[in-house]
Amino acid sequence: CGIVGYVGERDCTEVLLDALSKLEYRGYDSAGIAVFEKDRIMVEKSKGELKNLREKINKEHKPDGHCGIGHTRWATHGEPSDINSHPHGSKRVSIVHNGIIENYKDIKNFLIGKGYTFISETDTETVAKLLDYYYEGDPVEAIIKTLNDIRGAYALGILFKDFPDRIFAVRKDSPLIIGVGEEENFIASDVPAILKYTRKYYLLEENEIATIKSDRIEFCNIHREPITKEVQVSNLDMDAAEKGGYEHFMLKEIHEQPTAVKTTISPRINNGMPDLSECGLTPEMLKNYRKFFIVACGTAMHAGMVGKYVIEKLARTEVTVDIASEFRYRDPIVTSEDLVIVISQSGETADTKAALHLAHEKGAKVLAVVNVKGSSIAREADMVLYTHAGPEISVASTKAFSVQMAVMYLLAYEMAYAKGTITEEECRRLTAELQKIPEMIEKTMECEDRCKYVASKLITATSLLYIGRGLDYTLSMEGSLKLKEISYIHSESYAAGELKHGTISLVTDGMPVIGVATQSDLLEKTVSNIMEVKSRGAFTITVCKEGTEFSEGVMDEVIEVPVLEDILMPLITVIPLQLVAYYTTVLKGLNVDKPRNLAKSVTVE
Ligand code: G6P
Repeated sequence: CGIVGYVGERDCTEVLLDALSKLEYRGYDSAGIAVFEKDRIMVEKSKGELKNLREKINKEHKPDGHCGIGHTRWATHGEPSDINSHPHGSKRVSIVHNGIIENYKDIKNFLIGKGYTFISETDTETVAKLLDYYYEGDPVEAIIKTLNDIRGAYALGILFKDFPDRIFAVRKDSPLIIGVGEEENFIASDVPAILKYTRKYYLLEENEIATIKSDRIEFCNIHREPITKEVQVSNLDMDAAEKGGYEHFMLKEIHEQPTAVKTTISPRINNGMPDLSECGLTPEMLKNYRKFFIVACGTAMHAGMVGKYVIEKLARTEVTVDIASEFRYRDPIVTSEDLVIVISQSGETADTKAALHLAHEKGAKVLAVVNVKGSSIAREADMVLYTHAGPEISVASTKAFSVQMAVMYLLAYEMAYAKGTITEEECRRLTAELQKIPEMIEKTMECEDRCKYVASKLITATSLLYIGRGLDYTLSMEGSLKLKEISYIHSESYAAGELKHGTISLVTDGMPVIGVATQSDLLEKTVSNIMEVKSRGAFTITVCKEGTEFSEGVMDEVIEVPVLEDILMPLITVIPLQLVAYYTTVLKGLNVDKPRNLAKSVTVE
């Protein structure tokens, strides 16, 4: 979910709607605002995307005021509906919430016992009513008492009816910043939401309570002791959060990959050699860790799988890759001699954050590969390597994946050289090759029309398979995820050699099978597997290096990418996979940037 708040001279409703539009990637099941009209709190909410709320407001009533809060929701407790939409509250209190209150049932029962009634199924409503229960004229007092009772993750924006000139805010485990303007102030889940108005902001730390008026912001802790904080200044590019002429954010972000990779690797290459010392990671440390773990979710996990392959290949060191939600509950054998690498675009993913905490509990050091500056994971890790992709807005991750992979390569090179498994000369050569990747990605984009054509063959499919071996298998996983998450076509990725042990029975006449076949030493094997599906009626599409020759009649469609050495191929192979997913979705007329049921930043378990 995303939350915002505004207090100042502007039309509050407009500011809230505008800021929420920048946060829709955090959820778009419903949206709502609460705005003071003089001393009355006016609440408007609507199911579905933000535009529904805007239409409703235009038709019915547009709150006219200068202080308010807003919310865009990704449903956890209670289906998406007008009633379950935020803000929630009573006559005296109105709140927006991002996170999950774990003990909300107990609180709800307690409040029912006190005569409260509930209209929604949400955990948030219990917090609103608990605040009301404790409120006796002093908002901060009520907030402190409430914080003592609730367990879980929260970022809260709160209005108290008796104080129409201010917003109260508090957070734990969910992100929240306080934007600082001239005679106006803001709250938001992240910086891009308010970038249009100000670059200055405060980072709210766990359980710090902020009281925000147009001309003053005060902070205190739960013991009511005042806190002074330092203003941060964002250097984010404002245009980066706009579509800049592209039809969708996803397409824009696909095309931003050459720059994103360049900006990410350049500062980490010194005299032709990888250099990750900026984060405190020395070759000596890399040599001495006992074991390496990579933990992440979704696309970031796929980047981790590429990392495992490249590190093991070059540095001859074992790396375990885990899905964060599995890692945290499988009692992993992690010790203080190990390095746990967490990868996260947002730096806020709840499961990845929990994996980081677990690693710390076990005494391990944590290296975070994160895109969002100042995010929770970046702040809590021992070392951070920022990827410099710029804001990624489309829910389906593209440029973040490429930069995460790029960092994995740098790490692998540095580690391999430190361990002596590659020579300095080889390390220099590999690094120089990596520096050519931005240009090679640009060249790979030439397959865009071809991808569009292939996409036109997929739009009637109800199910398809992605197959590959080795690094190609990892890319198959990413290609398959990309396609299914936005086009809603059922898709599975399978290790090409494993297909015959069960999954091949799904192949029927005309079923599309996308074979990723860029690895020279595995080419023959993968091609045999493609032939196996072809002879059972599959419609075969193969992603391969330019000039790869196949026997006649095996490949129905081929998408060629430039020739690089095998180990580097993932960095460009991903391009056609992203483009095929993108165009299939566009041709099906679906919402590319905001696929149903998903959110970009998943701050719940
Ligand atoms: C969500 C997004 C995915 C992303 C995953 C991990 O599910 O929809 O695109 O890969 O979270 O996000 P993170 O911010 O940790 O990389």
